[in-house]
Amino acid sequence: MSGVGESFQKMTRLKQQGATHATKPMDSQTETEHPLPAPGWDRLPGLGPSICERRSQREYGGAMSQEDLSLIIAASYGKVSGQRRAVPSAGGLYPFDLHVLVNHVQGMEPGIYIYRADTHSLALRSAGPWGEELARAALGQRMCRDASVVLALVCVFGRTTRRYGERGYRYVYLDAGHVVQNTYLVATGLQLGCCGIAAFYDDETNRLFAVDGTERAVTYMAAVGRCL
Ligand SMILES: Cc1cc2nc3c(=O)[nH]c(=O)nc-3n(C[C@H](O)[C@H](O)[C@H](O)COP(=O)(O)O)c2cc1C
Repeated sequence: MSGVGESFQKMTRLKQQGATHATKPMDSQTETEHPLPAPGWDRLPGLGPSICERRSQREYGGAMSQEDLSLIIAASYGKVSGQRRAVPSAGGLYPFDLHVLVNHVQGMEPGIYIYRADTHSLALRSAGPWGEELARAALGQRMCRDASVVLALVCVFGRTTRRYGERGYRYVYLDAGHVVQNTYLVATGLQLGCCGIAAFYDDETNRLFAVDGTERAVTYMAAVGRCL
């Protein structure tokens, strides 16, 4: 019996109309190795070290500045010029509402905020020290409480599925990866830690961010903060 993942893969397939023959499979006999030049990381003085030094950090302590938070958010889901964002998105549809759970940011009240990209501002949705509750919802991962912030990508699936149907479910997960990769790289560049978080109890996490889990759901999170 096939699992739901296999069904997902089948049911979200794009099929070529009128296809009559399969594409010729790759022939492993013809494989030859082509050596590449050594990667010249010094050609990327800003980005190179961030890519090479990036790793997932899980131990955090202390507060982050609002300036750091601003850059992290701008690079992850902000608009960099006009309507253009720092990350790609299938069809340019940008399905996420970026929520920010603030634990420890200098001069900011702890709580759950929603990011308004048009004004590059955070609107407080629910004041309170919610980190402990998020840690419980995330299988006891303490970084949800100890990190300065946890970014939560709440997917509004209809933004993408209205155009792409079931195939859109594949796209939103790919979009999420692009966002969090930028979070990782900018955090590393600012000498902060970052960790992607996908291990969480869906119902509890969605409840905390006040979404129904069907039309809108937390898809991926990222803890960011000062490393211990
Ligand atoms: C989709 C995804 C989900 C992840 N979820 C978690 C998580 O819930 N908790 C965690 O500690 N790390 C999580 N990670 C981080 C991985 O464990 C980490 O990237 C991997 O071990 C490689 O280590 P590195 O990032 O330090 O290179 C996740 C990474 C990805 C890409």
